[in-house]
Amino acid sequence: MESRPQILLTRRWAKPVMKALNESYEVTAPTGDVPFARTEILKAQDGIEAFCPTAFDPVPADLIAALPESVRLIASFGVGIDHIDLDAAARRGLAVTNTPDVLTDDTADTAIGLMLATCRRFWEREKTLRDGLWAGPTPGGALGTKMTGKTLGIVGLGRIGHAVARRARAFDMPVVYYSRRRDPDAEVSLGLVWCETLAELLGRADIVSLHCPLTEATHHLIDRAALAAMKSTAFLVNTGRGALVDEAALVEALRDGAIAGAGLDVYEFEPRLAPGLAELENTTLLPHIGSATRETREAMAWRVKENLDAYLAGQEPKDRVV
Ligand code: DGY
Repeated sequence: MESRPQILLTRRWAKPVMKALNESYEVTAPTGDVPFARTEILKAQDGIEAFCPTAFDPVPADLIAALPESVRLIASFGVGIDHIDLDAAARRGLAVTNTPDVLTDDTADTAIGLMLATCRRFWEREKTLRDGLWAGPTPGGALGTKMTGKTLGIVGLGRIGHAVARRARAFDMPVVYYSRRRDPDAEVSLGLVWCETLAELLGRADIVSLHCPLTEATHHLIDRAALAAMKSTAFLVNTGRGALVDEAALVEALRDGAIAGAGLDVYEFEPRLAPGLAELENTTLLPHIGSATRETREAMAWRVKENLDAYLAGQEPKDRVV
């Protein structure tokens, strides 16, 4: 029988995709839900041609250097690529792919969900109910903030930023944006208003939603000064990457009333939260589940397979980033 290319996965993916992978490749993957630790990855035999981590698995330079000589491709499961040392991959001549598009809708839905939940204090009110402390509805007290009609500030107008802007129209929200590149088409088709500086956006928005990639330039983009530039009635939503925000400064801002609240799906030091964050009632905190639906996680896995199939057959993969 002709030998099949060898690939290594750090975690198991959706069953139909695992089945298809096993038909095309010699797959090394964990047998259960526990991901491969670094030592298990490094046990990989020479012969592995593709290494497939997820966006949740750090792939630093020393791991890249220690991968078997035979590895040619890092095919990552997830759109974010900040977990991979791309320079080290390029130096070793490795190709790198990710899985854009397929998780755009889910991530945008999560951002809108966080906005609504945080403005309307859903988590806090639900907790009161579940704790048996609800005495029935009242006309006042524990009121939230109306989201419909508020100005949304989108930081980073990529695929997900666009999808959030489209959804915001259903809430009659004027949308301002700040991004590396101006997008005149979106300004016309979605009625977006361009802000020349982040400070301008922070001063105008009632809700600031982060959708830019994490790079050296965007690390702590929302720092103490940026938080101080927001309205004291404004909310921050982050479904991008935790380290876009100085989380310790955010805790202070939330505690001191410098901003009204925050809805977060990502954290600076996952899975840990900055001290004090979990105790704050003006937050909605999700455990990095932006793309965590059955449909999307399966689509992400198929997308990795498409990239693997193309690259290992000598073709250019659709989602090559290096
Ligand atoms: C990604 O793809 O980068 C997300 O953070 C995980 O779904």
